[in-house]
Amino acid sequence: MARIAYVNGRYRPLQGATVAAEDRGYQFADGVYEVIKVLGERACDLERHLDRLARSLAALDIAPPMPRRALESVLFETLRRNRLADAILYLQITRGTAPRNHLFPKGGRPSLMVTVRRPVFPGEREREEGVGVITRPDLRWGRCDIKSISLLPNVMARQSAAVAGCREAWLIDREGMVTEGSASNAYIVDASGRLITHPLNERILGGVTRSVILELARRDGIEVIERPFSLDEAHVAREAALSSTSSWLLPVTAIDGRPVSNGMPGHVVRRLMALYGEHLEVV
Ligand code: PDD
Repeated sequence: MARIAYVNGRYRPLQGATVAAEDRGYQFADGVYEVIKVLGERACDLERHLDRLARSLAALDIAPPMPRRALESVLFETLRRNRLADAILYLQITRGTAPRNHLFPKGGRPSLMVTVRRPVFPGEREREEGVGVITRPDLRWGRCDIKSISLLPNVMARQSAAVAGCREAWLIDREGMVTEGSASNAYIVDASGRLITHPLNERILGGVTRSVILELARRDGIEVIERPFSLDEAHVAREAALSSTSSWLLPVTAIDGRPVSNGMPGHVVRRLMALYGEHLEVV
C-alpha cells in the first residue's frame, strides 16, 4: 500500500509529496521535528512530545502552524490513512518558504510535514544481550535541547557507529563527559545501583523516553542522579543503557569494544525495561 504523507494541508502519496525548493528547512535547517511511537493506534506519550515541540518552536521563534488539537487531528488522520496500528510518526515544522535570506521572512507561514512508517523496534537479541556503542567527540552546537532538524554531527557520528558494527555513538564533550548518543540518551548504573544520566541543559536533548524512565525509576525506589558522567566512569560502570522513542530502553554492554561489567545486561536496566514496557501498555 502506498504511504501517505501530509504536507501543508494536503494528504498525498509519499512519493509525490514535495516541499518547495526555497523551504527554509531545506536551505538553512531552519526547523524542528518530533518522532512519536505508535502502539496499537495509540500515540505513546503524545502530550510530552507536543510539549517539547512547543518548546522547540518557541526557542526558535517559529509560530505553530496550527493549534495543538488540530495538529493532533492531522497526526491521527495521517496515521489512519496509512493503516498501521504500530508505527513511527515523524513530524517536521520549518519556518516556511521564502527567497533565500538569513533574516526571518516577514509574515511567512511555517511548513508542516507528517510521515508515518512501519517501526523497526529492537529485537529480542538486542534486548537480551544488549548493544555496543562507540564514542565520538561531541561536535554539536550550543542548543542541543532544541529538537532541531540540523543533525549533521549526529548523522556523522551515527554513521561511524554503523561502520564499527555498533548501535550508537556516545558523544563526548571537551571535559571528557558523555553527553548523550547521536539519537538517544545515555545512562550508567554505578556500584551502588544508582542510575546516572546527564542533567537537562543545553548540551542534551531532553528525551521523552528519558523523562518517563526517570519517573519510573524514582517511583520504583531506584536512586536517580542527574549529573554528567565521564567516559572513564562509564568504562567501570556496573551497567549502562540508552533510550529513545524507537530504541525504547536498551542495555549497553560494550563501549568502544570493552565490555561493561561482565558484558551482560544488569538487573537495574532490565527492571527499567520491564517497567517501561508496562508504561507503554497502560498509558
Ligand atoms: N531521536 N537525544 C537525541 C540527540 C535524539 O535525537 C533523541 C531522539 C533522543 C531521545 O529522545 P526521545 O526519547 O524523545 O526519542 C535523545 C529521535 C528518535 C530521532 O532523531 O530519530
